[in-house]
Amino acid sequence: MSNWIKTLICLAIGGIVAAQPVELVVDARRPGVPIQPDMWGIFFEDINFGADGGLYAELIKNRSFAFTNSPLMGWTTYGHVELRNDGGLFDRNPNYVRLTSKRELLTGTGLMNEGFRGIGIVKDDTYKLSFYARTEDDTPKRLSVRLLSSNNDPVGRLQIEVSGREWKKYTGEIVGGISDPHCRIDIRLTTPGVADLDHISLFPAKTWKNRENGLREDIIQVLYELKPRVFRFPGGCIVEGNNLETRYQWKNSVGPVENRLVTENRWNYNTASKFFPDYFQSYGLGFYEYFLLAEDLGAEPLPVISCGFSCQFSGPREVVPLSELQPYIDDALDLIEFANGPVTSKWGKLRSDMGHPAPFNMKYLAIGNEQWGPDYHIYLDAFMKQIRPKYPNIKLVGTSGPYRSGEWFDALWPQMRALKVDLVDEHYYAPPQWFLNSAKRYDSYDRNGPKVFAGEYAAHTTPVKLNNFESAIAEAAFLTGVERNADVVHLATYAPLVGHVDAWQWNPNLIWFDNLRVVRTPNYYVQQLYSHYSGTNVLPITNNGQIVAGENQLYANAVIDTIKKEIIVKIVNSSAFSRDINIRIGQLASGMSFKSEMQAIYLTGDIMKENTLDEPSAIVPQNESLTMSTRENNVFPARVRGLSFNVYRIQLQ
Ligand code: AHR
Repeated sequence: MSNWIKTLICLAIGGIVAAQPVELVVDARRPGVPIQPDMWGIFFEDINFGADGGLYAELIKNRSFAFTNSPLMGWTTYGHVELRNDGGLFDRNPNYVRLTSKRELLTGTGLMNEGFRGIGIVKDDTYKLSFYARTEDDTPKRLSVRLLSSNNDPVGRLQIEVSGREWKKYTGEIVGGISDPHCRIDIRLTTPGVADLDHISLFPAKTWKNRENGLREDIIQVLYELKPRVFRFPGGCIVEGNNLETRYQWKNSVGPVENRLVTENRWNYNTASKFFPDYFQSYGLGFYEYFLLAEDLGAEPLPVISCGFSCQFSGPREVVPLSELQPYIDDALDLIEFANGPVTSKWGKLRSDMGHPAPFNMKYLAIGNEQWGPDYHIYLDAFMKQIRPKYPNIKLVGTSGPYRSGEWFDALWPQMRALKVDLVDEHYYAPPQWFLNSAKRYDSYDRNGPKVFAGEYAAHTTPVKLNNFESAIAEAAFLTGVERNADVVHLATYAPLVGHVDAWQWNPNLIWFDNLRVVRTPNYYVQQLYSHYSGTNVLPITNNGQIVAGENQLYANAVIDTIKKEIIVKIVNSSAFSRDINIRIGQLASGMSFKSEMQAIYLTGDIMKENTLDEPSAIVPQNESLTMSTRENNVFPARVRGLSFNVYRIQLQ
């Protein structure tokens, strides 16, 4: 019987259980096991139009006419437009378009781009257009550029003159005349003659930190407010690719953006029902932008690289012969050099040339995503044998396969132990009930082996996978057990991070967006509360001497923050009725006392409720103050609402 049904039965038979206050005793004599400062983080993959069309602020789809087999995808051409690949400026993306305008052509000649399910334009905001052009003769040619609304009305204009037989970069600015998430851009050659165009790009002037080639300010702000401390990138299955050729190769993602090799996205035809032939990777948000963003967010980068296996779930399931693995290992070694190497090194110099002479201080590297089978550990060993001696301080992450338990999981963990990896990546996408039942998962883990990186997890509701409060509260309950076992679980990242409401392949996701808006899910707020109130050390918290992990549908954990000087108690009530709880500070370090008022932050709501772009605040954290019992000066009585996640902060002095 599911907990929700039990809850309904309890409600039907009345509030007898609720009448008894539950006493939770916190032992704060001394700080317990340390909580890793990097514990709570984010997992980013270019899935759900997460990079191109998402975080990456480029508004033009297929700006380099480089989509394999469909080089004009995203564009509508009219008049005389020819696709060419001779004499282009960028050797890795050689295609460009030739526009020929003739007076007798009544339609004129030009091309329109549809953006990523439209181009999001905000009234009065400025947009930066850039492209490369050359002309056949020396007579200047005029291009008329217009933003067109979803009703086809011109809502922004710009005229640019191009001239000269050599490729040159042209730039201009357009101001949006309307707010509309589904605009298009039209570029028309209005002077008779020939003009060649390439790498046509449009960015909002306002990007995160106003950077060129920047990221969407609103989405990154939401990430920033999460305070992630570790940042896994670039996936996920995308690391592995549909086949080895389409695996994520970080070297394709650095250097000048115009010349980053455009490749198909592994999520473009994952299943028959999720067919996205226009999903490619421009790598505009590449490894340099990733490291920079990690730095901005204050998160430790944790890149994942291919170990020579393509996706084992689908596709041809290719494995590079062990004898040909060296280029993959070199990619790993070179990535470390790109992140951390001196500017005098080959890859450190590239980092410096791109604008960041200082090292990024990368500390983690994961090798392989969700690998399994008899050979993975042999491949991993080959990587480790070369990385360990050269970079002994980099923490290496191995995988336990795609599932949270079972044959592959059981086979992989001993192999990871034998190899002495630093962390093992565990993935669990499971129903909410599994999360509720698994709050004790890590209580019995080996304290001496590799640490756990909960690298991908999310509660998947049935029959439809939703970011509703049912999934969020189940995750919050489970995470009390993760936090209690902070000596075993060193890192945790919910997955996936973002999804475009009009172009997603996977749900649920932590954050949803469209071309102009972004919404934080209830699951986001759960992550945020853990991340903001992570504390520095675990404290025991018990009810009748037992850990609080599901008995009476209550889950709890306590931590101390020795820097901010506060005790933080997290309580989840997964039943639908409120509970009276006495939080008793049983023991305290000598010389310490606490304030008589504690601050509470709570999330509560209907289990079916979601936050949407139109109703973004259905479930949001709320605050209240609670005071100490007048009878006992170490007890804080709290009425914990039904279906709630609560964070109590007790200030020490
Ligand atoms: O997060 C979505 C996918 O789930 C990841 O790409 C993969 O690692 C997992 O199977």
